Amino acid sequence: IYSDSELASAAVAGQIADLIRTRAAEGRTCVLGLATGSSPTRVYEELVRLHREDGLSFQNVVSFNLDEYYPMAPDSLQSYVRFMREYLFDHVDIRPENVHIPDGTVPPEQVADFCQRYEEQIREAGGIDLQLLGIGRTGHIGFNEPGSGPTSRTRMITLDHVTRTDAASDFYGEENVPRRALTMGVGTILEARQIVLMAWGEGKAAVVKRMVEGEVTDTVPATYLQRHPAVQVVLDEAAGAELT
Ligand code: F6R
Repeated sequence: IYSDSELASAAVAGQIADLIRTRAAEGRTCVLGLATGSSPTRVYEELVRLHREDGLSFQNVVSFNLDEYYPMAPDSLQSYVRFMREYLFDHVDIRPENVHIPDGTVPPEQVADFCQRYEEQIREAGGIDLQLLGIGRTGHIGFNEPGSGPTSRTRMITLDHVTRTDAASDFYGEENVPRRALTMGVGTILEARQIVLMAWGEGKAAVVKRMVEGEVTDTVPATYLQRHPAVQVVLDEAAGAELT
């Protein structure tokens, strides 16, 4: 628990930079699982700063984003492709061919094949070294809404009403928020070697308490993280306020 999210984000960015550099020194790729939303933005800003001012290279980085709305055009204002470009990819030297984001333009009949291929690509890359996560007020990680089990894989899901309410301002009204999304599964996420979940602000305090101290249940999919051997939960004081 950090006094504020800025300090916490700098620490997480520093940890990611260390991992990228260690793997580069070994001549290996660094496979990052990336999240969008408000929680990781300062981490990405700090990584961009480290690239510009401290020589951090992303040449050996392979990335897999957690999720994307469906349907969603990549150049649309709310797309996670656009988000990742704006906050990170356009400002660092990552190879475009190393970037993977679920494709919100895949025709419905090809979604299952696309999702299976996404899983294969993660395996072919050697698995995810470090997965960044936020948490939704429903207890989702990625877009694994309540009801998502521990063995769920990359798939199309229906977004929870609460999640669509939280996204309403980004879409200028809840009626414009897509009803579905493509997301890595809980099982996909749990296979990452290391997981770093970030949550800021009092709005997350209740769900953070359930995630950390509650019983493991698919009603709060983030509780499955309790079973992972290497998870860090990084909070500001407000998000950690309800922990005992
Ligand atoms: C985003 C994602 C979501 C968000 C979560 C929290 O790629 O997978 O699980 O991390 O909805 O969103 P913010 O950070 O905006 O509060």
